[in-house]
Amino acid sequence: MNKRKIFEQRRQFLQEMEEVAVQKQHAKLKLTARERLNVLFDEGSFFELNTFVEPAKAIKKTQNAFGDGVVVGRGLIQGRSVFAYAQDFTVMGGSLGFAHGMKIAKVQEMALKFGSPCVGLIDSGGARIQEGINSLSAYARIFRNNVSSSGIIPQISVILGPSAGGAVYSPAMTDFVIMTNKTSYMFVTGPDVVKEVLNQNISMDELGGGNIHAEKSGVAHFVFEDEEHAIIQVRKLLAYLPLNNFDPVPVSMDVSFNAERQEYLNKIVPDDPNRPYDMKDIINILVDNNTFLEIHEKFAQNILVGFARLDGKTIGIVANQPKVMAGTLDINASIKGARFVRFCDSFNIPILVLEDVPGFMPGSEQEHTGIIRNGAKLLYAFCEATVPRVTVITRKAYGGAFIVMNSLGIGGDFNFAWPTAEIAVMGPAGAIKIVNKAELAAASDREAVEKELVEKYKDEIANPFKAEELGMIDDVIKPSKTRQVLITAFDILANKQYSQPERKHGNIPL
Ligand code: COA
Repeated sequence: MNKRKIFEQRRQFLQEMEEVAVQKQHAKLKLTARERLNVLFDEGSFFELNTFVEPAKAIKKTQNAFGDGVVVGRGLIQGRSVFAYAQDFTVMGGSLGFAHGMKIAKVQEMALKFGSPCVGLIDSGGARIQEGINSLSAYARIFRNNVSSSGIIPQISVILGPSAGGAVYSPAMTDFVIMTNKTSYMFVTGPDVVKEVLNQNISMDELGGGNIHAEKSGVAHFVFEDEEHAIIQVRKLLAYLPLNNFDPVPVSMDVSFNAERQEYLNKIVPDDPNRPYDMKDIINILVDNNTFLEIHEKFAQNILVGFARLDGKTIGIVANQPKVMAGTLDINASIKGARFVRFCDSFNIPILVLEDVPGFMPGSEQEHTGIIRNGAKLLYAFCEATVPRVTVITRKAYGGAFIVMNSLGIGGDFNFAWPTAEIAVMGPAGAIKIVNKAELAAASDREAVEKELVEKYKDEIANPFKAEELGMIDDVIKPSKTRQVLITAFDILANKQYSQPERKHGNIPL
């Protein structure tokens, strides 16, 4: 046959495939793989690779299987190079056969080699059953690539349909997982197996929908109502990140901030130590206008993590949230914080810690499910981080939690405190009951003595001035001056050069 004709015919088939895909996907309120890539990339910038790769011989070939159910290539996001793959559910349920898997592996390997982020738009029935072990071996290569790329290029997964069985472990090993709340789900075994093995009735959504993973399991960092918002989030996220671990963070020319609101910081912390306030207000006042991008917003809300810009430059923020569980650190909060600190450290993003933490969560439930092992993750992550690290203590900083939250002792570069800070081994109420046990037992008016002892403890021990005198913090600062102090501190740290002694890798408690 005439080669020019074949060339034209193939493109014609592709066009027909897309028309079928549009009908099938739109009926399910979903976009096609190519439509999704168009949302992801700057207009007209997508450069597709291996468009006409065919499925393995085991599969009956039809013209509808061109590409083997995945579209891969490279495009631009805000002008910066990013690799991506988008699975096409209309071709054999987006199932991953060998050729399909090799296409994904190819863009992963190109992304790593060329130092660009890799984004997966996932919509797949998992390993292609007809291809058996070949399909599994392709997954193995993808998983291995995920790990090889970890800490070198940002990896983001957007789940836009099913992600089931062993296939979930590729997104699980990427840096960020984004889901939709109605059309995406992730589980290791589906509702049918759950029914068969455990005799439990559970729907797909209840088992592994976007909301469940964003709120309960912590698998999803973001959840959105629709696909467009989920995909656009990738663009927003990448705007804060370097392209790879040697690339500097992007700098914005817009350094506007709310000058009038800085004064409000002087009175934001209530006098009553048991009254909560919203740490997000403090973050939003301190950073450049509208730049706080919260991650894991719905999961472990007692700790806040996210990116923001300070004077135009990306920083990572880890903050206790006194509004939720008084900001106590529990297992989920420790894991959430630790993972974020490690991401920032991998990609040289300076870390700001805002601290108001009464301690680790007490109780048998937390002890028995491993608060020791999991709390250690946050401590370990801070200890090993070599990026610039600054802490501001707004109120409580008690006990082990004080040490964990980026204290000078574990390598924090600067620790500042507001005058409202309470820095001590434990809170006044608990402390006097231990130290003044005999005195309290003998007291005729116990309540009055207790009150007196609490005041004495606050004056003599639980305040920032003792720590300041001992050099355990760098300075007590006026809250309204915090933004300027932070800009100066991160400026001093801009050329921080510190690396850990060489070793294969540390052994973070898992
Ligand atoms: N291997 C091969 N083909 C698959 C597949 C797989 N893993 N998953 C889906 N498909 C095919 C279906 O056979 C169907 O083909 P057809 O259009 O020729 O009939 C097409 O993809 C669409 O699947 P369907 O089941 O009709 O879609 P659905 O939306 O009702 O259900 C799933 C989607 C993913 C829940 C369902 O297909 C499923 O359970 N797949 C298997 C999941 C799994 O356990 N995978 C192994 C994990 S490693």
